[in-house]
Amino acid sequence: MTRERVAVLLSGRGSNLVALAEACARGEVPAEIVLVVSNRPGAPGLDRARERGIPIAAIPGKGVPKEEHERLVAEAIEEAQARWVCLAGYMRLLSPTFVAHFPQRIVNIHPALLPSFPGLDAQRQAWAYGVKVSGCTVHLVDSGCDSGPVVLQRTVPVLDDDTPETLAARILEQEHIAYPAALRMLLTRTWRLEGRRVIFD
Ligand code: GAR
Repeated sequence: MTRERVAVLLSGRGSNLVALAEACARGEVPAEIVLVVSNRPGAPGLDRARERGIPIAAIPGKGVPKEEHERLVAEAIEEAQARWVCLAGYMRLLSPTFVAHFPQRIVNIHPALLPSFPGLDAQRQAWAYGVKVSGCTVHLVDSGCDSGPVVLQRTVPVLDDDTPETLAARILEQEHIAYPAALRMLLTRTWRLEGRRVIFD
């Protein structure tokens, strides 16, 4: 099976990058991570990439016009000849222009059951709301905030004695299963969009 070339965009820790990279290395996902881009030069996720020999690009977003920043990111992705883009804790909204560059080939993971609790600090939002079940969502990216079509979700219970941190840790374990599984499905199965619904044959 041919391996798809994937770029991962991140802003922070990089645990989802590691989960994806390890699933690719084990042959569970027919993909190769050919580039990791961070908008934060100090992101620990860049070290996780370096440790694995994955090429990195630190492209600072601060103080740079969005259009210019995205142009540089898109150029780096194209130079690396990546066809798919996985957002893994990438804390910037993408413009319609950027999204149109990689039609239905940008994927994101969010630590809540969308459409509940989009945006920042989703685990704390869910905890504070008092929901009894939360989880994570892998979705195709559009130019909204955590708003594209859902590919896969995994749930976790919210316990009475949870803190936002213990809930986030329980969700993160499921993220590390969900993201490789969703990417594998997108790359290996035939699928189509019916309205917002991602339908796998
Ligand atoms: C993950 O929990 C991911 O779901 C979240 O950022 C974290 C990144 O962790 N993404 C969002 O909130 C996107 N709206 P990681 O750097 O260890 O993968």
